[in-house]
Amino acid sequence: MKIVELIPIARDLINQAKIAGKSIALVPTMGNLHAGHLALITLAKQHADFVVVSIFVNPLQFNNPDDFANYPRTVQMDCETIAKVGGVDLIFAPSESHMYPYEELEEQTFIEVPGLSDMLEGANRPGHFRGVTTVVGKLFNIINPDYACFGEKDFQQLAIIKKMVRDLSFNVNILSLPTIRAEDGLALSSRNGLLTDLERETAPKLAEVMNQISSNMKEGELYIPTLLSTAQFALEQHGFIPDELFICDADTLGELTITSTHAVILMAATLGRARLIDNMIVELP
Ligand code: PAJ
Repeated sequence: MKIVELIPIARDLINQAKIAGKSIALVPTMGNLHAGHLALITLAKQHADFVVVSIFVNPLQFNNPDDFANYPRTVQMDCETIAKVGGVDLIFAPSESHMYPYEELEEQTFIEVPGLSDMLEGANRPGHFRGVTTVVGKLFNIINPDYACFGEKDFQQLAIIKKMVRDLSFNVNILSLPTIRAEDGLALSSRNGLLTDLERETAPKLAEVMNQISSNMKEGELYIPTLLSTAQFALEQHGFIPDELFICDADTLGELTITSTHAVILMAATLGRARLIDNMIVELP
């Protein structure tokens, strides 16, 4: 396994693998790896001969400087974890100046997916998804993967990346994986490390509330304002500050209509220093 910081060296290694007839899979991450990331690496190994994991805390997708500063950076530990798991051929961990050589990030050319990037989480975090699509587009151009693996945990991000690939004809197959959870139901996330012990005990309530809303929907309660206010109340009772609560069509991310077959419940809530996000697909009755 090689650990590479420079773009031309990463490109050389990829070219050698391609010349040897190997297919390439990329798992883009911001590091601080957990079992969710490792499941994506397993998925990558199932599809390709040469697996690349990128580790880069992307400043372009943080709209809050404190959030960027507090984001856990554990590259050394991540490389050790990946080495232990095995099966990864290349870790691409560029520094910020290699990815964004301009002094001012505003000078950077962007990739922007309209519509999908502006709604839901995007409305609350202006510029966030533009930062995600720009860095993912750059990674696709640097690594030139046949496959790229993403988690359904970031449901809107996955939908946006699929649209970007379609709209800009990137030559890559997008693979995805359902959310990996702790035994108590909490979705694994690098941000969970920001929780105190007490908050960590409360955190699974987010998924519990989502399950409850899902059950209510399956039993025929489909009036969205009632469902949302029930969720909001329950979260506040448990000490969360609800940030975003949406129930929308899982395919379009727009409003549910008479033809919708699946809804998605999207939740973001703050608990202490951590902003937790989660989602669940509900088959409509
Ligand atoms: P990061 O939060 O590190 O997540 C990397 C990948 O792991 C994403 O595809 C995310 O959806 C997936 N993931 C995170 N938690 C998961 C879980 N519990 N189960 C399954 N998959 C999970 O998402 C990003 O980084 C960045 O936005 C990135 C795409 C790397 C661009 O900077």
